[in-house]
Amino acid sequence: MNLKVFATYKLPGNPGALFGKEGISFSENLLPRLLRTEELIEQAAEADGIISLLGDKIDADVINKLKKCRVIANYAVGFNNIDLNAARERGITVTNTPDVLSAATAEIAFLLILAAARNLNAGEKMMRNKVFLGWSPELLLGYGLEGKTLGLVGAGRIAQKVAKMALGFGMNIIYFSRSVKPEMPGRFVPLSELMATSDVISLHIPLDETTNNLISADLLDLMKPSAIFVNTARGEVADEKHLIALLKKRKIYAAGLDVYTNEPNFNHALTTLDNVVLLPHIGSATFETRTAMAHLAANNVISVLKGGEPITPVAS
Ligand code: DGY
Repeated sequence: MNLKVFATYKLPGNPGALFGKEGISFSENLLPRLLRTEELIEQAAEADGIISLLGDKIDADVINKLKKCRVIANYAVGFNNIDLNAARERGITVTNTPDVLSAATAEIAFLLILAAARNLNAGEKMMRNKVFLGWSPELLLGYGLEGKTLGLVGAGRIAQKVAKMALGFGMNIIYFSRSVKPEMPGRFVPLSELMATSDVISLHIPLDETTNNLISADLLDLMKPSAIFVNTARGEVADEKHLIALLKKRKIYAAGLDVYTNEPNFNHALTTLDNVVLLPHIGSATFETRTAMAHLAANNVISVLKGGEPITPVAS
């Protein structure tokens, strides 16, 4: 039987070679953009396995048009773009790419923490605009991290890596998650306490129906005026409009964002604010990580198509 796999975007790390070794045909979308839904359906309809991107909306309608698909390997740790119930009903296994991206994503979270705390944007801009007038005692004062409290929302692999980095910076850790995690450094606290007492808040939770808008306007209002808010998870887990209002009114010190509500059509009001650092969803964007993600996605597909267990199935 000639097995076919389709990737909705060209991936690094030559995953085609892994499929070749197994005698599986592999094709990928070579356009430098996501496929429109009808294109995706047309190109994936006959595939036994699909590698999808987080920007591909794999809803029930798409899933029901896949004629032979047995496995969808999402090229991301998040899988909010896939209708898991529809996949389950069709007997399709869904996998993601955890672990291999934890360090890279934690690094970006920490980069945003440092950049927001120490006015990286303003300093960079000053130099590029050639308006640096020399060292002065109060030039671009920011907040130090040593001795401060980092509040982590979530206690999974990425949060644990961020916690380790923060300990290296001499920070105290508190965290909130669905349950107490003994492997997590720091103290478990209720979410409202975390929002009210942290100097830096960093989000590390997946997006699903229980976390959509979890960080509501009311919770955002609890933040200290000196607080720094960082999101490398998904935009939709926090009330972005309200966050923008707080930043505008300088009710909190700063924010660092790698993710947005309704990507890629993010709220352009953010670009008018000088107290937010903005990145284009590059948490996992290192050469090493994106290659490892491609290999993990490919190996998940191979394993399922060869009759084995998926390596990193998504709990549904
Ligand atoms: C993910 O994997 O979910 C990230 O957001 C992108 O790497």
